[in-house]
Amino acid sequence: MKRKILAYNFEFSETLDRLRDRFDVEIFERINPKKDPAFLHALEMAEGIVGLALPVDKELLDRAPILKIISNNSTGFNNLSLDEMTKRGIMGTNTPGVLEDTTADAIFGILLAAARRIPELDQFVKTGKWKQHLTRKEYAVDVHHKTLGIIGMGKIGSLIAKRGHFGFDMNVLYYNRTRNLEAEEKYNAVYSSLDTLLSESDFVCLMTPLTPETENIMGKREFKLMKNSAIFVNGSRGKTVDEKALIEALRTNEIHGAALDVFQIEPVRADHPLLQFPNVVTTPHVGSSTHETELKMAKLAVENLEAGLTGKRPKNLINPEVLD
Ligand code: DGY
Repeated sequence: MKRKILAYNFEFSETLDRLRDRFDVEIFERINPKKDPAFLHALEMAEGIVGLALPVDKELLDRAPILKIISNNSTGFNNLSLDEMTKRGIMGTNTPGVLEDTTADAIFGILLAAARRIPELDQFVKTGKWKQHLTRKEYAVDVHHKTLGIIGMGKIGSLIAKRGHFGFDMNVLYYNRTRNLEAEEKYNAVYSSLDTLLSESDFVCLMTPLTPETENIMGKREFKLMKNSAIFVNGSRGKTVDEKALIEALRTNEIHGAALDVFQIEPVRADHPLLQFPNVVTTPHVGSSTHETELKMAKLAVENLEAGLTGKRPKNLINPEVLD
């Protein structure tokens, strides 16, 4: 009998075709993994899982007694209970190194869209409201020469700094667990405290991974520290932001606007209060979602999966202690 692999929300599942002569590949799309009987049954025999944002907790792992590897098709891995996986000898992998420029493009894109009010003005044109010269009601705000504050200066944060520095002559401030000397040297990024960054930036761009330390890192106090004219951009994970505090900050004009690619609960409900503000630009968690990059990620996720199932060390192992 062939060994079993499960693919969960895995676009470009054709990248698994080359494994099909050795493995039995079962594909699951748009299911509730906690409730889907076919998925729960398949888990019992699964040695490998590949896919996007499968919520992996003790309960799921209890149903997967022979699982060896979970290959996340994303760079973030906050969906994995890594300690629990390591205890059981299960490897976890992710897909860094192929999506950073694409994600930086997308996040800089929503920053620009919010500043220049592109979605709102697009609707203004398409709904026939453009009948005469614009008034200041339709004006936007500049991006160039402003101060860009980046919270989380990892690879993607640095590439956003690069775009801000070289493309838009922006001053870059950053806050990170550790200094990023390369970003300081290449993009004149200035290391600052979180509070200084919040109170001096015109654009506050949140790019941290979601960890216990960064959960709700942006709350009432932090939004109050921001300038009334500043725009908040979230390209990290929804749970890094206290959404109630963000709604309040927007409602009371404590901040000028927001650009959000991520939400506490995804997909976000259409009646979510954040979606009712014209000065909030949204995208559906698409930082890495281009044809080119998603294909590269899928190929890398399959390479990691294959390595883990054939006794090799996966290139992007995130819990190396599992091999001890
Ligand atoms: C990532 O790679 O972490 C993206 O946010 C997609 O989940």
